[in-house]
Amino acid sequence: MSGLVHIRTYGCQMNVRDSEAAAALLESRGYRLTDVESEADILIVNTCSIRGKAEDKARGKLALMIFSKQERPGRIVGAIGCMVQRMGREVLKSVKGLDFALGPHRLARLPQVIEAVQAGEGPILDAGEVREEGPAMDGHLPGSPIAFVNILYGCDRRCAYCIVPDVRGREWSRPAFDVLEEVRRLVGAGVREVTLLGQSVMSYGRKNPVWPEGECSSSGFLEPLPRLLESVAKTGIARVRFTSGHPSGCSDELARIMGLTSEICEHLHMPVQSGSDRILERMRRGYGVEAYRQAAARLRTAMPDFALTTDVIVGFPGETDADFESTRAFMDEMRFDNAFIFKYSPRSGTPAAAWPDDVPVAEKVRRNKILLEDQDRRGMEIHGPLIGRELEVLAEGASLRNGSRWCGRTRTNKIVFFVNPGSLGVGDLARIRITKVLPQTLYGDWVA
Ligand code: 5AD
Ligand code: SF4
Repeated sequence: MSGLVHIRTYGCQMNVRDSEAAAALLESRGYRLTDVESEADILIVNTCSIRGKAEDKARGKLALMIFSKQERPGRIVGAIGCMVQRMGREVLKSVKGLDFALGPHRLARLPQVIEAVQAGEGPILDAGEVREEGPAMDGHLPGSPIAFVNILYGCDRRCAYCIVPDVRGREWSRPAFDVLEEVRRLVGAGVREVTLLGQSVMSYGRKNPVWPEGECSSSGFLEPLPRLLESVAKTGIARVRFTSGHPSGCSDELARIMGLTSEICEHLHMPVQSGSDRILERMRRGYGVEAYRQAAARLRTAMPDFALTTDVIVGFPGETDADFESTRAFMDEMRFDNAFIFKYSPRSGTPAAAWPDDVPVAEKVRRNKILLEDQDRRGMEIHGPLIGRELEVLAEGASLRNGSRWCGRTRTNKIVFFVNPGSLGVGDLARIRITKVLPQTLYGDWVA
């Protein structure tokens, strides 16, 4: 079977990775991919459940796609990802006209499910909780100098607000040699930077063994994650990142390896969620402000140019003005390079959903706005001194709007726009002298 496939992705990097692996799988079975939704025969939405709004967006998109079937008989529309897992059979009732729905553990079945739909079966639902394993979901699409690689599936943390453990299942770490094999393959295909992915990536190798007996012990000198980072750095890759961090994993060993290994970028995204101990406790985050402070200090001591980014939730049940002000103060103290601010959204089935959602929407909006304004100011304060400095930027390609204007990222994960003199290619590590800064982006000139 074949057809032209368009995949629309919502949500986190894990979803981006799943979509890419699904696309590579379909391509290997004779399907072709397109960025142009209107020309596709098969439309797929990879959904996210993290907040109510994320699901609303996916539902809205799917409804429009299903409507378009009236003009394109034979067109197939399917949903994949977290919303399918969360809703199960309900998803077919909630989104009328879907041809198939596959949960994140079942994506390896995508080609056979599409074939079944093409053969007249349907709608088909598979929200099974057992991961379809094997190499089917290891594929990557060619062309990009950067790639994501899964190292840890699921999450066992059970933060009070979070739907992820319900939709992504129990924590399971991929064997280190499988990860290394995938990275080596990527290096061979010209990839320069990999980001190792896990919902709570610091837990890598804690629940199931990932190294052959005797090669690494989680209680011994070498911890599984630092050991993996070190090994990935030796594959010939130019840059290594990993996400998302948690203070519990910021050990001396991790800081030591990050500081010593030139391939590991000096950046970590480590969601803090709140700067109030009372709220952190209610969120069941497993750390307080002081532990976060110490974790950040360990990394900063090991890496002078280290950049720290974060996520914060405003309006969590019971968050008072004083809690919010603590968060503001703590964000200033931590000097976050960037911060994503989210308004609390109750997710049914999570512990927090049983508590009154007592911060009014207008107040959530106000707190959200204040933190964004603070971050803009902080961003300018942090970026200002970069003017005149030369930074290493991995050239990712032309920006969509302006062909001679290229973009890439610094080792600290900041986006940089620069004019390509023509001699730079995709995947080159360029030296860029910074000439102008904004809160979230840098501009500069290539230095020969
Ligand atoms: N409401 C609002 N934000 C949430 N996040 C996770 N769950 C919720 C929720 N129920 C945020 C956290 C997390 C980011 C990916 O999304 O900040 O780090
Ligand atoms: Fe969204 Fe979480 Fe699923 Fe990622 S894992 S797509 S953030 S619900």
